Amino acid sequence: MFFDSHAHLDDKRYDSDRYEMIMRAREKGVSGIINVGYDIPSSMRSIALAEEYDFIFAAVGIHPHDAADAGAEALEQVRLLAAHPRVAAIGEMGLDYYRNLSPRDIQQKVFRQQISLAKEINKPIIVHDRDAHGDVMQILKEEDAAINGGVLHCFSGSVEMARECIKMGFYISIAGPVTFKNAGKICEVAVEVPLDRLLIETDAPYLTPEPYRGKRNESAYVIYAGKRIAELRGISSAELAEATSRNAQKLFGIKNI
Ligand code: NI
Repeated sequence: MFFDSHAHLDDKRYDSDRYEMIMRAREKGVSGIINVGYDIPSSMRSIALAEEYDFIFAAVGIHPHDAADAGAEALEQVRLLAAHPRVAAIGEMGLDYYRNLSPRDIQQKVFRQQISLAKEINKPIIVHDRDAHGDVMQILKEEDAAINGGVLHCFSGSVEMARECIKMGFYISIAGPVTFKNAGKICEVAVEVPLDRLLIETDAPYLTPEPYRGKRNESAYVIYAGKRIAELRGISSAELAEATSRNAQKLFGIKNI
């Protein structure tokens, strides 16, 4: 049973077959899914999915791409949404210096504000980091962000950075790119992260793993990252599935799925 620690199943690309797609994940043995918001409407849709399916849980938050549009009002809305019993985490939040869809100073401010909120309401955080490793690490440290746990989703840093995150108390989540033929340092990270700190995810509908690369991703495909990581580590898929499911349940405070 694999746990998909990061997906966006509310995406409009699933509008024609969402129920079937979610059932496929269940049939393939996906034990649980965190559906992650990136702005207020998607956070609300995440909660709606979590109300509808008992193995789906919501994360609510503001993605760095959407930070520029998020005023104090949006942060208040995240706070209100976070009180819902199906909300397991705050996020996704972080920095994205690859696309820079919001100015960097605003990304940083909204990232810090959400860390503070998560600390205040005792929730773990889901961190997005693209081409912003240095500033992400600095903010996580300055804000003492690991206090209620958290995960660096779709990890793309070095082995050294992974070690530093783990020392701070974070989990490392690995997504579909670990299956790519040209996957580089993420394969080293996949082997180096202690088994009790590792999560896996799809980030569906993005980052589709081999053998479906180029097509729409879905939660059922979390198995491919899982199998590849198990192979790299020289352990069975079952062992990896069990460990990463257990880790997700611990981090997100989920019982009995
Ligand atoms: Ni995401």
